[in-house]
Amino acid sequence: MNGAALALTTDGVSGTEAVAARLAAGLRPGDLIALDGPLGAGKTAFVRGLASGLGVDPRVVKSPTFVLHHVYGAPPRLHHLDLYRLGPGAGIGLLDLDGLLESAPAAVEWAGYADLEPWRPLRLLLDIAGDQLRHIEVRAPDDAPPRLVAAWRAAVAGT
Ligand SMILES: Nc1ncnc2c1ncn2[C@@H]1O[C@H](COP(=O)(O)OP(=O)(O)O)[C@@H](O)[C@H]1O
Ligand SMILES: [Mg+2]
Repeated sequence: MNGAALALTTDGVSGTEAVAARLAAGLRPGDLIALDGPLGAGKTAFVRGLASGLGVDPRVVKSPTFVLHHVYGAPPRLHHLDLYRLGPGAGIGLLDLDGLLESAPAAVEWAGYADLEPWRPLRLLLDIAGDQLRHIEVRAPDDAPPRLVAAWRAAVAGT
């Protein structure tokens, strides 16, 4: 497979939700999805798609910008974090990511604000490519768990 298969451009929010829902099929507790990109790039929309793919009502997904952490499902099916308010160099020790990941996968918005390398995330970069167009690509795939990269390739291929 070539590098292009690691990226796609969606045309509308439903496309972003759909590729995320397909990725969710390959996720399990312990998996971390790190999302970066500017405001409006579709990070929260992507998490809505993950939730949907994990069997959670996507309407419960809200931007947790003012909350830092939402958990969806009981027992947990997805953790949703947003580091925006913490800003660059965010300390995340209090969030107990290890503990959260025991119960479910996690998605983190503004992931670049913290050092998440110890958790070996799948890093996705979202960018605004037009009114309804959002480019989504995986960053540093060689550093990510191969299983997660494979799940992402399968999600992209399913579009
Ligand atoms: N292809 C697309 N994918 C995702 N969102 C899109 C797309 N096209 C337009 N949008 C709009 O862009 C905005 C994305 O918002 P949101 O998911 O909250 O972004 P972020 O969390 O990155 O700030 C929404 O208003 C959504 O309707
Ligand atoms: Mg958001």
